[in-house]
Amino acid sequence: VSALPAAILRACDDRSFLAEPLEFLERTRSRLGDLFVLREAAPLFSRDPDCAGVVVVFGADRLRTVLSDIEAFGMPVSAAHRLTLPANLVNLNRSLHSMRGQDHASHRRILARLLTPGELWQQEASLCAALERSVDGWRPDKAMGLLEAMRSLAEGLACSLSFGAQQRTGDRLLAQLQAYFLLRREASSPGPASPVSHAELVAAGEALDRSLRSYVRACRHAPSSARAGLFALLAGEAMTEDEIVAHRNVAYISSTEPIAVSLTWILLLLTQLPALRADLRREIRQISAAAVNFDRRRLLDHVVNEALRLLPPNAFMVRTTTRATSLAGVQLPAGSEVVLCPFLVHRDEAVFPRARSFLPLRWARANPSPFEYLPFGAGGHSCVGRAVALRLIKLALSHLLERFDIALADDQAVDWRLHILFLPRNEPLVYARPADAAIGLEAGELKGPVADLIDLGKTAGLTAESI
Ligand code: HEM
Repeated sequence: VSALPAAILRACDDRSFLAEPLEFLERTRSRLGDLFVLREAAPLFSRDPDCAGVVVVFGADRLRTVLSDIEAFGMPVSAAHRLTLPANLVNLNRSLHSMRGQDHASHRRILARLLTPGELWQQEASLCAALERSVDGWRPDKAMGLLEAMRSLAEGLACSLSFGAQQRTGDRLLAQLQAYFLLRREASSPGPASPVSHAELVAAGEALDRSLRSYVRACRHAPSSARAGLFALLAGEAMTEDEIVAHRNVAYISSTEPIAVSLTWILLLLTQLPALRADLRREIRQISAAAVNFDRRRLLDHVVNEALRLLPPNAFMVRTTTRATSLAGVQLPAGSEVVLCPFLVHRDEAVFPRARSFLPLRWARANPSPFEYLPFGAGGHSCVGRAVALRLIKLALSHLLERFDIALADDQAVDWRLHILFLPRNEPLVYARPADAAIGLEAGELKGPVADLIDLGKTAGLTAESI
C-alpha cells in the first residue's frame, strides 16, 4: 500500500528515470503535469530507509513552498550516517545544509557577512596571482582536458580565498581537504559497491580533522593583523571548534568543484561561439576589473547567467518532509522525498522564450523570480556563497578570455552525468591559444549528448553593441 496520496498521478519507472533522468522528467511532466510520484516506498536520492516515496515537483508556487519552509521540507539525512563514520567525521559535513531553526539563522548571518566580496576582496591581488600560476603551464599547441584544467584553477582560487597571501601554510591542508572530498564523494555515490574502503575513508578524514583543528588553534592565537583569508576570519568568530571545522570543510567543497564545473560549461559553450568570445574580450579590455567597474561588464554577466540557466551544476535538488505536510492542497506524509529539477525549471518557455537556445542577450530584459531561475538555489537554504562564487567565476573568465582563445581541439562528442553535480562525463579537449594570435584558426565542433541539450545555432551574429 502506498503511503503517498492516491490523488497524485504515478510515473513509477525507475529504470527509465535512471537511464535518461532529464528526458524522462521532461516527458512525464508534459504528460502528467507539475506533480507526480516517481517511486513508491523507497528513496531515489536520499537513501532514507523510512522513505514514504518520491514525488517530483514543478511550478514556481510549489517550489516556493518547498524551498521556503526549511523546517517541514528538510535537507536529506547526511550520507555520513549510512557510512557509519565516527562523530568527528560526521561533524565535518555539518554546515548550514544540516542546520535548522535558530542555529541555522545565526550561523547563516555569520557566513553571509564573511562571504561578502567586500570582506574577501582585499585579497584580489592574491586571487589574480593564483590565476597566473594556474595558466603557467598551458601550451598553445598542446590539447588539455578542460574540466581538469578548471579543477586545478578552482583549487588555486580556493587556496587563495582560504589563506590570503599566506598560501604556503595551507598547501598540505588543501591537499587533505581535496583527498577527503574525493574519497567521500566516491563512497557516498549511488550505484555499485564503492571502490573506497571504510578504513581508507576514515584515515583520510581523521588526518584532515586533526589538521583543521590545529589550524583553527593556530589562527586563534595569531595576532589579528597576521590573519588573512576566509579560514582565519572564520576562526575569529564566536563559534565552537567543531562548527568552524565543519564550515571550513564545506566552504572548501563549495568553492572548488561547483566553480570548476561552472567554468567548464561556460567555456565549453564559448568554444562554439568565436564572435561572442571576441565581443567578451573587447568588453573585458575596455572596462577595467577594478571592483567598482566589475559589474559594468554586462555581456560577461549575461553569458554567465545564460550558461548557468542551460547547464546548471545543481541540476537536481532534494528535500525530505520532516512531518506530514500540505503541498498545494495535497497531503504528503512524513519521510516523502521531494525532487526538484532546476535544469528543467530553467527551460520553461513561458519564462524563457526559445528556452533551449543559448541567448545571453535575453538577460538584458529577463527578470525571472527566484523560483524560476535558481542555479544557486532559493529560499532558506539558498547559496550563501553566491556573490563570492559569481565573483570568482567572472574573475577567472575575465583573466582567461583576455589572454587566451579557448577552442575545442577537434570535433568531439561530449556526454554528461550526475555525480552529485551535473558535469561532463568525458573530458572536453581544448587548445588555449594566445588570444590575438588565434583569430581564424580551425576549431572543433561540439557534438553528442551535451550539444543535443542546447540550441547554439541562433546565437551567431549577436554582439555586445546590440544589448
Ligand atoms: C558556482 C558555484 C556554486 C554553486 C553553483 C552553488 C550552488 C548552491 C546551491 C544550488 C545551493 C542550495 C542547495 C539546496 O538548496 O539544496 C547552495 C547552498 C550553499 N552553498 Fe553554494 N554554490 C556555489 C558556490 C558556493 C561557495 C563558493 C560557497 C562558500 C564558500 C557556498 C556555500 C554554500 C552553503 C554553505 C550552502 C548552504 C546554505 C544553507 O543551507 O543555508 N557555495 N549552493
